[in-house]
Amino acid sequence: MSQLTAIKQCNITDTEFLTDVLSGLAQQQKTLPCKYFYDDKGAALFEQITSLKEYYVTRTELAILEDYSKAIANMLPENLSIIEPGCGSGKKVAYLLAHMSNVNTFVPFEISSEMLNYSLAHLSPLFPELSISPLLGDFTHSQMVKQLTKDTSLDSQTNLVYFPGSTLGNFAPVKAIEIMNNFHRLCGVNGYVLIGIDLVKERQVLLDAYNDKAGITAAFNKNLLQRINNELNGTFDLDNFSHESRFNEQHSRIEMHLVSKCDQSVVINNQRVDFIKGESIHTENSHKYTLESFKQLAGQANLNLERTWQDDSNYFALCLLRPQ
Ligand SMILES: C[S@@+](CC[C@H](N)C(=O)[O-])C[C@H]1O[C@@H](n2cnc3c(N)ncnc32)[C@H](O)[C@@H]1O
Repeated sequence: MSQLTAIKQCNITDTEFLTDVLSGLAQQQKTLPCKYFYDDKGAALFEQITSLKEYYVTRTELAILEDYSKAIANMLPENLSIIEPGCGSGKKVAYLLAHMSNVNTFVPFEISSEMLNYSLAHLSPLFPELSISPLLGDFTHSQMVKQLTKDTSLDSQTNLVYFPGSTLGNFAPVKAIEIMNNFHRLCGVNGYVLIGIDLVKERQVLLDAYNDKAGITAAFNKNLLQRINNELNGTFDLDNFSHESRFNEQHSRIEMHLVSKCDQSVVINNQRVDFIKGESIHTENSHKYTLESFKQLAGQANLNLERTWQDDSNYFALCLLRPQ
């Protein structure tokens, strides 16, 4: 087995979920943060989504990794440490690790303990020599870099921050820049950032990817309400909400919503939240970029786009960035 250290908890508090839920539902456009999708049921549903016919995202990125992970690894120096925020199943980093020698440490960094454990179970038998320092934490936290470096023995000069899965697309531009700024600091002056982004494409392909025929994405979206029921004493009736995916042209993003089918009230930890028929809770954004729009965005975090690798249909891109 690999040299696996115990999971450290870095920056999540017990009360944060309740605070985030109540403040999101108090806004005029009700929202819930997508970082809470991944309890055990949500993690399992996401794994199902990744193999759906409509959900081109995962299989396309995996195909790029199959074709180019060796070329990507060849551009990276030896003795790097790798940090993977939102590592999920850990399947993608395995492609890179297979072609890299002398990796100092791998730091999977997850908000979901289920996902973190899943990635450890997958990676540690595959890479018996690899030192793994797992961290349970929130990569959107403003103190993320300080907390992460305190809890690990990372080199401050040369790290690789690996951020696949188009997770960056979940964030509006201001937050995406803040996150990339943190990656910039985390990778160090001689370091690298490798980000997977979903590219602009035909609208129906996008809408279908987030609204599959089998209803798995709908179940994934609604599970957020079930999680609130389970963990925060909520009274959501899941049958009273329907799942919708919408394309927001102005912001070049897919939005996921849960639409109230009737006028209704829900209680969460003794606080009442009212819904009128047709009102929605906005649960997720997934921004779609062009290579140019992404280059501009990364530039605002002082990261230079050095190389990209894409699939033949130009659906998805892996982008290698370096500090300016
Ligand atoms: C879209 S999935 C991508 C998973 C994996 N990186 C991949 O490419 O298949 C997003 C992952 O990021 C994690 N995540 C979401 N928000 C997070 C946050 N704020 N901090 C840490 N992890 C987060 C989720 O638990 C989930 O495993």
